[in-house]
Amino acid sequence: MSRSKIVIAIDGPAASGKSSTAAWVARELGFQHLDSGMLYRAETGRRLGIADLRSPEVTANVSAVAQIPSVRAAVNAELRRIAETENVVVDGRDIGSVVFPDAQLKIFLVADPWERARRRLHQKLGRAVLDAEIADETRRLVERDASDATNTLQARDAVLIDTTYLTQEEQVQRIVSLAQEC
Ligand code: CDP
Repeated sequence: MSRSKIVIAIDGPAASGKSSTAAWVARELGFQHLDSGMLYRAETGRRLGIADLRSPEVTANVSAVAQIPSVRAAVNAELRRIAETENVVVDGRDIGSVVFPDAQLKIFLVADPWERARRRLHQKLGRAVLDAEIADETRRLVERDASDATNTLQARDAVLIDTTYLTQEEQVQRIVSLAQEC
């Protein structure tokens, strides 16, 4: 059965720009943005008693919490509940493959690890970053990609977009154009 509401799934590895891209695409289309990573971070923060969901402690522990089947089931149920009544742009790692295999548009964002680390640090620090800082962040990202590997599943019918050499506006426009063709 096809869906009555529209789902755009945006998946990809850590710091590939999923959340900010999904938020922007949702604004352009007048859809609701659902950030599944924030739901995993919220559960991790609750277990650790930490309120800053982007803190290094939450980031270091979120992959383990996201492996717990009952946690995944609860997150997926919440996402599906909202998508019954709203058009949504959902970002995560298994959205197009597991959570919404019937999504009308599936995107898988990738980017070179060094560039992902540079962008993440620039976003966090708001200044130019040193190569040594980028090297440390790249190591942490690659480690998290490895811990998340079993739950990072590219749907066979996803459109792969490599954002290494794209501006955020270019990647948003590409996805909005694809959505308008649906
Ligand atoms: O923004 P960033 O890529 O750093 O991570 P996030 O999207 O906030 O996701 C945080 C964590 O949640 C990931 O490292 C995964 O462990 C988990 N996650 C997941 O397992 N499945 C998803 N659909 C989304 C996130």
